[in-house]
Amino acid sequence: MAGSGERVVVLDDVSSGMPERLPADIPLIRGTSLDGEFVRRVLAEHAVTGVVHLAARKQVGESVEQPLRYYRENIGGLTTLLEAVVDAGVGRFVFSSSAAVYGNPPDVDLVPEDTPCAPVSPYGETKLAGEWLVRATGRAHGITTTSLRYFNVAGAASPELADTGVYNVIPMVFDRLTRGEAPRVFGTDHPTPDGTCVRDYIHVSDLAEAHLAAARRTAGSGTDLTVNIGRGEGVSVRELLDVIAEVTGDHRAPVVEPRRAGDAPRAVADARLAAKELGFTSRRGVREMVESAWAGWCLHHPEARRD
Ligand SMILES: NC(=O)c1ccc[n+]([C@@H]2O[C@H](COP(=O)([O-])OP(=O)(O)OC[C@H]3O[C@@H](n4cnc5c(N)ncnc54)[C@H](O)[C@@H]3O)[C@@H](O)[C@H]2O)c1
Repeated sequence: MAGSGERVVVLDDVSSGMPERLPADIPLIRGTSLDGEFVRRVLAEHAVTGVVHLAARKQVGESVEQPLRYYRENIGGLTTLLEAVVDAGVGRFVFSSSAAVYGNPPDVDLVPEDTPCAPVSPYGETKLAGEWLVRATGRAHGITTTSLRYFNVAGAASPELADTGVYNVIPMVFDRLTRGEAPRVFGTDHPTPDGTCVRDYIHVSDLAEAHLAAARRTAGSGTDLTVNIGRGEGVSVRELLDVIAEVTGDHRAPVVEPRRAGDAPRAVADARLAAKELGFTSRRGVREMVESAWAGWCLHHPEARRD
C-alpha cells in the first residue's frame, strides 16, 4: 500500500507480527484490536479513512482445541474494531476471510462465491461469522465492505519477508527436505487426474495487490463484496512436488501415506468475480511461488541450501 502511494498506519499487538519487517517510515502502534478505546484513539489520531483487518488467530488445529480463544479474539476483536470504525465514520473496511468458509467444497471444477458455506473448524466458523458481521455492519452504517476469501497463500515478496511458519504444504515439504526426509503425499487415490489433491495457490504479492484494489473501492456505499482470491487454476500435490524438486534440486521420491479424513479432492477458486469487481487477476504462477518461498526458506535455514 505504501509503495502505491497510500498513507498507512499499522496497529498490531505483535503477538505473531515482526516489527522489524515494517518499512521505517510506517508508524507501528502496538496494541490489541480487542481494546476499543485504544482503537478509537488510533483511528482519530491518524485520521483513518479505511481499515484492512488482517489480525486474527489462524491455526485450524489450534482452533479445534481452543474454540473459545478463537471466537474471543477473531469475533470479539472484529466486533470491537467495527464499533470503533462506525464511531469514527470510517468509510471502507476490508476483511481477511478464507476459503476455509467453504469447508470441504463440493466436487466441482471451480468454487463460486455462492457455494453453500460449511466450515469444518472453529477457525473457518470465525471467518464465516466475521463475513456476516462485516456485511451487516456495512449495510447498517453505510460502509463499503470487502471480504477476501484467500485460497492457498504461498511464496514471498522478498526472502527477508518470507513466512517463517511451517503451516502450509510448501514450507512443510521444505522442512522435511532440510531434515533429509522425503516429502509426504496424503492419498494417491483421490478422484483427480493423478490421484493427489488439487488446490489453488496464490502468490502473497498478488494477494497484496488484491487488498489494494479492495481498499480503493469507493467509500461509504454500504455495499458488500465477498470474493474469492485465487488463480482459478488447480495444481495437484504431485505437480507441486515436481516443481519443488526442480527448484530445490532435491528429487527424493515422496512417501505415500493414506488419505487424511476430510481432505477434499479438489478446491479451486472461481476467480471471475474478483476480475470483474476488483479488476484483480493474479500474475504470478506456481514456479514463482516456490522459487520465492525457497529463497526465503534458505535465508532463514542456511543448512537447506545445496549449492
Ligand atoms: N496465511 C494464510 O494462508 C491465510 C489464508 C487465509 C486467510 N488468512 C487470514 O489472513 C489474515 C492474516 O494472516 P497472516 O498469515 O498474515 O497471519 P499472521 O499471524 O502472520 O498475521 C496476523 C497479524 O495480526 C497480529 N494480531 C493478531 N491478533 C491481534 C490483535 N488482537 N490485535 C492486534 N494485532 C493482532 C499479529 O501480531 C500479526 O502481525 C488472518 O486473518 C488470517 O486468518 C491467512
